[in-house]
Amino acid sequence: MPRKISYGVDYDDGYDYDEDYPDESYDYNYNNGVDEPESGWDSPEIKPEVKKEIIRQNVWRCPICTYDNEDYMSSCDICGVLRNPLIRSSNNGQSSTVAPDLNKPSTSNAPSNKAINNGNSKSIAKPSAMSSSAKPSSVSAPLNSKDKFQHVEENNHASVSETQTHSLSSEMTSLTMSVKSDNSKIPDKAKVPRSQFKPENWMLPDQTKDSLTQLNLAIVGHVDSGKSTLSGRLLHLLGQISQKQMHKYEKEAKAQGKGSFAYAWAMDESAEERERGVTMTVAVAYFKSNKYHVVVLDSPGHRDFVPNLISGATQADAAILVIDASIGAFEAGIEIGGGQTREHAQLIRSFGADQLIVCVNKMDAVQYSKERFDAIKLQLGTFLRSCNYRDSSVSWVPLSAMENQNLVGPASDSRLLSWYKGPSLLEAIDALQPPAREYSKPLLMPICDVLKLTSQGQVSVCGKLDAGALRNGSKVLVLPSGEIATVRSLERDSQPCTIARAGDSVAVSLQGIDATSVMSGGVLCHPDFPVAVSNHLELKILVLDVQIPIMIGSQLEFHIHHAKEAARVTKMVSLLDSKTGKVTKKSPRFLLAKQSAIVEVVLQDDVCVDEFSSSRGLGRVFLRSSGTTVAVGVVTRVIPSEQN
Ligand code: GTP
Ligand code: MG
Repeated sequence: MPRKISYGVDYDDGYDYDEDYPDESYDYNYNNGVDEPESGWDSPEIKPEVKKEIIRQNVWRCPICTYDNEDYMSSCDICGVLRNPLIRSSNNGQSSTVAPDLNKPSTSNAPSNKAINNGNSKSIAKPSAMSSSAKPSSVSAPLNSKDKFQHVEENNHASVSETQTHSLSSEMTSLTMSVKSDNSKIPDKAKVPRSQFKPENWMLPDQTKDSLTQLNLAIVGHVDSGKSTLSGRLLHLLGQISQKQMHKYEKEAKAQGKGSFAYAWAMDESAEERERGVTMTVAVAYFKSNKYHVVVLDSPGHRDFVPNLISGATQADAAILVIDASIGAFEAGIEIGGGQTREHAQLIRSFGADQLIVCVNKMDAVQYSKERFDAIKLQLGTFLRSCNYRDSSVSWVPLSAMENQNLVGPASDSRLLSWYKGPSLLEAIDALQPPAREYSKPLLMPICDVLKLTSQGQVSVCGKLDAGALRNGSKVLVLPSGEIATVRSLERDSQPCTIARAGDSVAVSLQGIDATSVMSGGVLCHPDFPVAVSNHLELKILVLDVQIPIMIGSQLEFHIHHAKEAARVTKMVSLLDSKTGKVTKKSPRFLLAKQSAIVEVVLQDDVCVDEFSSSRGLGRVFLRSSGTTVAVGVVTRVIPSEQN
C-alpha cells in the first residue's frame, strides 16, 4: 500500500505499532552501503537470520518475505502476497483439477501453509499504517503437494523457452471486447449506461484558471538502482525537503553506517526500510515542475514487494524507469527470470502508462561513459520496443543522483557535458504529454487506503479519481459494501480543497458510514452509476515468461486496481492469434509463454470491476504466481458471481 512521506498528511495518525516486532531480532546480512558497492548490485535475497525465537500463536508466515502475519490477514501485510491462493471448486464442473503453482519447477518444495502456521515467529517489519485491507479469510485446504507434483510432471513437456522477447501491449490496445455485463448485485436503476451520464458544470475544470495538471509519476526499476535516492534528491533540489531536514537525514544515516542512503531516507521512512536499505512500500511525495504538479510514486525494486508496486503505482500516468549503469548491475536488472527492470517495464506498460523516461543512473560509477550509455540504450531499447513502447514515447537521460548530474539542470561534469546535449530529468518530465482525463464520466475512485480514526468515528479513504469529480457534500456509493456516504472534506497534497477531479490523488473524509463498510480495494462511485461487483470474470490475457503452462485449475493471485484475490482458472475459452486477435483454437488445454487467450477465472471473493472497454482503471488485471507476474490482461466480461 502506498504511504505518503512526511511532507504530506500523517497517515500514521492513530496507529499503534505492535511491540511484538523487535528490530534486534534480525540480522539481514545485507550490506548495501557505499563501503561495498559492488556486492549490492545483484538482487539481494532477503535472508533474515533468527537470533531470537519468539513463539507466537495465531500467525502465519509469508512464504515470500517470511513476515509473520496475524491469523486473520488474508494477504501478507508487508509484501502483499496472498495467504493461500486456493479457492473452492467452481460449479461449472471444469475446475476440479488441482493445478501447480506457476513458475515453480516441478521439483520445488514450497512450504505449505500448515507449516507456515506452525512456524515460530520471526518478523521483519511492523505492519504499515494504512493496511486496512485485511479481512477474515476462509481458506480452503492447502494444495496437496503430491497432486501438484504429478500434475506438473504431466505438463513438463510444455515448459517454455525464456529467451525471446514478446509483445505485450499491442494485445492490450487492440482488443475488441464483447461488453455484456450482468451485474447481479446492482439495482436495476443502476444499469443506466455510463455514457448517458451528464456532468454538472462544477465537475469540469475551469479552463480559464491557470492551474498545473497533476501527473502521477511512478518511479520503478531493479532493486538498488537508486530510485529513492533519485526521488529524495529531486525533492531536495526542488525545495520540498529543507536543508535542515536533509542535514538530519545525513546525520542519522551516517550514524547507522548507511551514509550513502541519506537521500533515500527521505522516501524510505520506516525503520525496517532504513535498516535494510530496501524500499518495501510505495512512498508518495510531491513537487512542482514548470508544467506539472508531479505526484512521485517511489516504488520498491525488490521482487518480494511487486504486489505493493502493483497496488501503489497502478494508476501512474507515466513512469521513470531507473537503471543502474554500473557494470553488472544493468545486466542483473535485465536478466530474464530475475531482473526487475523487465517485470517493472512490462507492468508499467500494462498499467497504461505508455510514456517512459529511462534514467540511466549511477553514471559516476562508469566515469560518465558514452559507450556504456549507448550499450544500455541499445539493449534495453530493443526490450522496450518488444513491450510495445514507441520510440517516440521513451526518452533517455544519463545522470547521477548521487553527484547531482543532470537532474534539474545541465550537468556540470565535463565528461558528461562533452557528449550529452539532451534535456535534464526535470526538462524530460515537462516534455511528457499531459494525460487524458475522464472529467465527464460518472465518479469512479478505486480506494487505495483507508484511515480509520476509531476514537473520533471518522473514516477517510485515499486514492486517485479515475473518472468524474467529488466535492464536499457529494453523496457517494461505497462498493463492495453498497453503503451510501457523504463527503465531509477533501484533501489534496495535504491541503484542504473543495473539489477533486479525475486524475487528482486525494484523501476523502466520509461521514454517514460505518468504518467496517469501507475497505481498500473497494471503490467510491456515483450512486446512480455503480460498477459491477463479482467474483467471476472473463479475461483476455497475455502470458508472460512462465515456466509452467496456465491451465484449467491453475491457482493464481489476481490483482486489479488496489484489490487482490486468490483466483482459479475455470475455463479456457479460446486461444488468440497474438497479432490479429482472431480465435485460432477453441478450448485450448494449456497456455504457454507469449500466448494470448480468453479465459474465465473465479475469485475467492468479489471485486469491484468493469470491462476494460468502459473503464481502463477497473478493467486491467495482473495474474501472479510464486512471486512473479505470469500474465497481464483485461476484463472482457463480468459474469454473475459464482457461489463459493
Ligand atoms: P529499492 O527501493 O530497495 O529497490 O532501492 P532503490 O532503487 O530505491 O535504491 P536506493 O536509492 O535505496 O539506493 C541504493 C544504493 O545506490 C545506495 O547506496 C545509494 O547511495 C546508491 N546510489 C543511488 N544513486 C547513486 C548514484 O547516482 N551513484 C552511485 N554511485 N550510487 C548511487
Ligand atoms: Mg527505494
